[in-house]
Amino acid sequence: MSMLATIARSAARAAPRALPTASFSLAASRGLHTLPQLDYPYNALEPHISGQIMELHHKKHHQAYVNGLNAAEESYAKAPSPKDQIKLQPALKFNGGGHINHSLFWKNLAPESQGGGQLAAGPLKDALVADFGSVDAFKKKMNTVTAAIQGSGWGWLGYNPDTKKLEIVTTANQDPLLSHVPIIGIDIWEHAFYLQYHNVKADYLTAIWNVINFKEAERRYIEAAKQ
Ligand SMILES: [Fe+2]
Repeated sequence: MSMLATIARSAARAAPRALPTASFSLAASRGLHTLPQLDYPYNALEPHISGQIMELHHKKHHQAYVNGLNAAEESYAKAPSPKDQIKLQPALKFNGGGHINHSLFWKNLAPESQGGGQLAAGPLKDALVADFGSVDAFKKKMNTVTAAIQGSGWGWLGYNPDTKKLEIVTTANQDPLLSHVPIIGIDIWEHAFYLQYHNVKADYLTAIWNVINFKEAERRYIEAAKQ
């Protein structure tokens, strides 16, 4: 399977409720990627993530990755030689990764009124305790590792298919997580927190656990552990 097909399949899996059927079909027939709708209003994650951040992050930043990916794919399709195609690979990786990562991220979050921040007893909690000692120890380690990213990037709780364990890993820029199955991803680009938390990454990382969608994380974990 080509990298582009993989990107498209991953993004589609990450955002199954992306658009109403009619517009999704139209977009799919033209081979275009589209901005997925959120499952909650922009202000639903307050006070932990402001509505202003969510709206800009979704409407402007994620949309820019979607537009960039569509443009890069169009150019790739028209590229006259392998050399010209290779020149386009950084744009495909950056914008394709941005689309995949943000599509996962929106699903990663849930308002407190819809269970955000709540980790019920079950397979994910058991695995976190087994692999990190406790849920609090996991959160602390994930925040420490994520805060230490230099520049922009993502912190991940990922499932390692070789060791069958949950591990904390990071990716730079908009690189998608390929070595592990993503269970929880935290966007540590400044656009994800600066308007509310300024330069204090630690406060953003502390607050985000109040709106992490652990039900979605557990669903991903169960699916990953089956394979
Ligand atoms: Fe972002």
